[in-house]
Amino acid sequence: VGKTNLVRVALPLQVQEYLEPFHLSVEKLREVSARLRKDLVRGLGKHSHHKAPVKMLPTFVRATPDGTEKGDFLALDLGGTNFRVLHVRVVEEEQKVLKMDSQICAIPKEMMLGPGVQLFDHIAACLNDFLVSQNLKGQTLPLGFTFSFPCEQKEIDKSILIRWTKGFNCSGVEGEDVVKLLKEAIHRRGDYDIGSVAMVNDTVGTMMSCGYRDQSCEIGMIIGTGTNACYMEEIKNVRRVEGEDGRMCINTEWGGFGDDGCLKDIRTEFDVVVDETSINPGIHNFEKMISGMYLGEIVRLLLVRLTENKLLFEGRTSEALLTPDAFETKFMSEIEERDGGLENTQNILTELGLKWDSVDSRIVRLVCNAVSSRSARLCGAALATLANRIRVNRRLDHLKTTVGVDGTVYKKHPNFSEELRATVRLLAPDCDITFLVSEDGSGKGAAMVTAVAQRLAHQTRLLEESDGEVDDEEEED
Ligand code: BGC
Repeated sequence: VGKTNLVRVALPLQVQEYLEPFHLSVEKLREVSARLRKDLVRGLGKHSHHKAPVKMLPTFVRATPDGTEKGDFLALDLGGTNFRVLHVRVVEEEQKVLKMDSQICAIPKEMMLGPGVQLFDHIAACLNDFLVSQNLKGQTLPLGFTFSFPCEQKEIDKSILIRWTKGFNCSGVEGEDVVKLLKEAIHRRGDYDIGSVAMVNDTVGTMMSCGYRDQSCEIGMIIGTGTNACYMEEIKNVRRVEGEDGRMCINTEWGGFGDDGCLKDIRTEFDVVVDETSINPGIHNFEKMISGMYLGEIVRLLLVRLTENKLLFEGRTSEALLTPDAFETKFMSEIEERDGGLENTQNILTELGLKWDSVDSRIVRLVCNAVSSRSARLCGAALATLANRIRVNRRLDHLKTTVGVDGTVYKKHPNFSEELRATVRLLAPDCDITFLVSEDGSGKGAAMVTAVAQRLAHQTRLLEESDGEVDDEEEED
């Protein structure tokens, strides 16, 4: 940070003025965290939930893995630009979740915006191809479906899509049960069937897959195309679900934080444009300041503005720079790399048809850094809020916990994770957090959720049977 500041001092004052709103002070981050803390409670409340921007959705996942789960599962993973089918094996002896095989099916852009029936037919066809290639047709394996969009879950196998995010907008799916749509598509084909289904958000999958390795993993976080987190909440606080004892995993859908306008003071004019030109204006404001789908575009808008004001490239833009989404988020990672970043910057600017000098490339790096570090710090503030909540829930002075993390922004960006952790340390000083990067969490995690659900069902059956035995004995007496 010190180094960045030094360079910033030497920049033209006008450039600094554009970047200043992206540098959130610790005080501001504390305020943001306090607002989110209130919003978590609103989302959990029976009556306040309805209007709450942070949805706090019950997942019906009541337990994390205990290491005794086992079996073979199918997993589907839909949430980014690709759709994946996996065959997963959970091996008890080795406490391992093994990916036996997997297949990726691209989802064409038109399909992301077309009729839902077409999307689900495509999913059913990909699953069929996979079953054939794996020689699994004819077996009815339990299936975990990672569907990474906000869903109102009624049970583990009933999940109503609240709204699409991240560039998807298929008609006829919002307000419908996604499991039903999947089963209908499979029945329309009529050439295979599936076993029991468990619906999972990717955050939950990530938490559960890390949970098999580290049983204190009670938070799952994604910072990729979209952003979100889940955590284990006390059931008595989840007012929309019956029950007093135990815990349930809550899918926070923190991407919606700010949708009631509560982040107005930190939104910049560039965030406003990104939101207004997106396919879902007004929705997922927090996500639009943080996740991979939007970061590159924020940078592009800043670069265009600086160029128009003659602070970059001698005032000359290029066709590419003026094209929405042409500045990809992955460029930021390349540009901000510690070694070789300057050279990468210059190559990228050339690719974008821009005429740069050394001051330009330095400014571009600082622009990327301002946007990515705001994202990391906002995420850190949100994660600190969850950790603090878990600590207070359990009346602990000190909490030690693990967060399972996935997503390209977190994994690929050179200083993102460091900056995020530093923020969490500042805002949640009484929480000691281990970060566990999940490998293939949303696929393996879906299998894990299914496995834990099966273990719990098995335990309940055993309990009922032993209750029955006691009853019989009593009757005999
Ligand atoms: C979705 C979440 C998801 C997140 C990360 C968001 O857009 O609403 O359900 O967990 O992206 O994939």
